[in-house]
Amino acid sequence: PQHPMIAPSILSADFARLADEAAAVAGSDWLHVDVMDAHFVPNLTLGLPVVESLLKATDIPLDCHLMIEDPARWAPPYAEAGAYNVTFHAEATDDPRAVARDIRAAGAKAGLSVKPGTSIEPYLEVLKDFDTLLIMSVEPGFGGQSFMPEVLDKARAVRRLVDSGDLTLVIEIDGGINADTVEQAAAAGIDCFVAGSAVYSTSDPAGAVRSLRDSAAN
Ligand code: DX5
Ligand code: ZN
Repeated sequence: PQHPMIAPSILSADFARLADEAAAVAGSDWLHVDVMDAHFVPNLTLGLPVVESLLKATDIPLDCHLMIEDPARWAPPYAEAGAYNVTFHAEATDDPRAVARDIRAAGAKAGLSVKPGTSIEPYLEVLKDFDTLLIMSVEPGFGGQSFMPEVLDKARAVRRLVDSGDLTLVIEIDGGINADTVEQAAAAGIDCFVAGSAVYSTSDPAGAVRSLRDSAAN
């Protein structure tokens, strides 16, 4: 990536006004869409019909973060619908490569996400088949939680592999990113920063995106 990427998470937006909430962060690199199924995580958000409507409502590339069971079955339709990036969880499948292949065949970038307690070592070889690694810096399920700095060891390890040419990946982080935490994440080699409450719980979402990007670039 050319510059620090910012992906506002609409989990913290007003779900009755999603088109306006997307317009409020025009100029963002990706719009992060948290899909939760009340099984993989203890929360329920939205699914394919809402994503299909959002695709018509915004030009910002959609970054769909699927916190769901059985991604082999449910992930490819998000790619077919036109999502730019479709990320699912390593903990939710025995065959992440097959899911990545199906997502890519359906026309989207493929992302692998790991929860804070999941080690990255078993997935380093598999990551060759992915476009994005989404490192969770909170337990998935809810916005507004505190950043877990210990997950940055994973970012540093993967950053080294990307910089040495062994992997080509966007390294993305999700959870607790705000003005206080974005710089340490940037220093660990993160390319793309998801931010929910830090963007949508302010009166100036576009300004929050700009200031996060500026902080990440320093
Ligand atoms: C949490 C979601 C996040 C969430 C982040 O499970 O994956 O994308 O929206 O919210 P903040 O930025 O408030 O921690
Ligand atoms: Zn997310």
